[in-house]
Amino acid sequence: MATGAAQQTKFLLDESQLPRRWYNIRADMPTAPQPVLHPGTGQPVGPDDLAPLFPMALIQQEVSEEPEIAIPDEVLGILSLWRPTPLYRAHRLEDALGTRSRIFYKYEGVSPPGSHKPNTAVAQAYYNKQEGRTRLATETGAGQWGSALSFACRLLGLECKVYMVRISYEQKPSRRSMIHAWGAEIVPSPSEDTNCGRAVLAEHPDSPGSLGIAISEAVEDAAGREDTAYSLGSVLNHVLLHQTVIGQEAIAQMELAGAFPDVVIGCVGGGSNFAGLAFPFLREKIAGRDIDVLACEPAACPTLTRGVFAYDFGDTSKLTPLVAMHTLGHDFVPAPIHAGGLRYHGAAPLLSQLVRDGLVRAEAYLQNDVFASALTFAGSEGILPAPESAHAIHGAIRAAQQADEAGEERTILFNLSGHGHFDMSAYDNYLAGKLQDVALDEAEIERALLAIEGLPTPA
Ligand SMILES: Cc1ncc(COP(=O)(O)O)c(C=O)c1O
Repeated sequence: MATGAAQQTKFLLDESQLPRRWYNIRADMPTAPQPVLHPGTGQPVGPDDLAPLFPMALIQQEVSEEPEIAIPDEVLGILSLWRPTPLYRAHRLEDALGTRSRIFYKYEGVSPPGSHKPNTAVAQAYYNKQEGRTRLATETGAGQWGSALSFACRLLGLECKVYMVRISYEQKPSRRSMIHAWGAEIVPSPSEDTNCGRAVLAEHPDSPGSLGIAISEAVEDAAGREDTAYSLGSVLNHVLLHQTVIGQEAIAQMELAGAFPDVVIGCVGGGSNFAGLAFPFLREKIAGRDIDVLACEPAACPTLTRGVFAYDFGDTSKLTPLVAMHTLGHDFVPAPIHAGGLRYHGAAPLLSQLVRDGLVRAEAYLQNDVFASALTFAGSEGILPAPESAHAIHGAIRAAQQADEAGEERTILFNLSGHGHFDMSAYDNYLAGKLQDVALDEAEIERALLAIEGLPTPA
């Protein structure tokens, strides 16, 4: 029988072990990411171009090449409400699968809003407050990001306006209530509150919305008001940076477990929870360690597996600068699958470059398979995962099964980015056999990619 660390279920760090610095992968990447371009001039954007939308501290982090950046004490103080988060050895899942591999997961669902998102929400609200902004505008897909930012704004004394993708607004009334309870204003997107929203509604009155549209609305809101900055919950370099507390903690916790992962897995919407766990491990991979790093996405929005690496806008209405990333085209509206947080046409430029360089690989899954894995997990480990996070669970289960078929024993680590307590209608639909698997056809991808024709080509 296994003894000691091999038998243990939870690997916990003391509050004093909360990482004090964020890890910046830009310093170690073999290929530098492409510059962000001004859509009007086609030239790289400078700090002044971004100043109407973001505080200077975040703009500096966006372009920083320092390997580590200190986390301000006030941010650490708030993070310590729930961090360090636990790392679990999934003994019971391993037994349920009958696998010879060891499976570990880092659980970010213990934060007050229920996901990894407040790791960056708190930092962003803090820097905005430091520079005198009193109000933040943002979009939210599944509602996790909107909850996280409204939570952070509440604790730091800022106002907050959330544009919530309409399909999620309807599917998740309790997320809406939570955002409201923390004092933010929330509207379904597309909304009547912005020019972009009104334009979409004029053409598609029944639009389910998308992250791309909601981003346009929030950017327009922020650009139009002195007191307001824009806050994004994923994709940007500084957002991914703020999430790296996850992987740094996980490295220390895997040490406590006397193990190191052969496979590191996360789900990808824009790439932030994936980066949070994976980037500190990629630092080791770049330094020569053999690690398989796997990004999991929905087949209905297969940005990394079927998109192209190209310059594109981050939003539908072409208000953002042009970024080089894997994209399905900025006017692609993904089918209304239940993993609302993974319905984004692009992926983080840092992650896209790492995929391009072969340091990260990606797989896409159908939602019925993902929910089956979510219930296998809930039935063994107990936690009901967010539909987004369930993509990583599915990836981990597949990795264990593939190892068994190959007669290998692997150590698998995945990020459980959030709980699914506000996603129960998705579980109801799955259990009632009502979830549709969306196999995106090539013609729709080709149509959507027409939107990027004529934009600059990455080097
Ligand atoms: C629980 C959860 N996981 C993952 C994601 C995907 O975002 P990202 O790729 O930035 O981690 C979301 C987005 O809303 C989410 O709510």
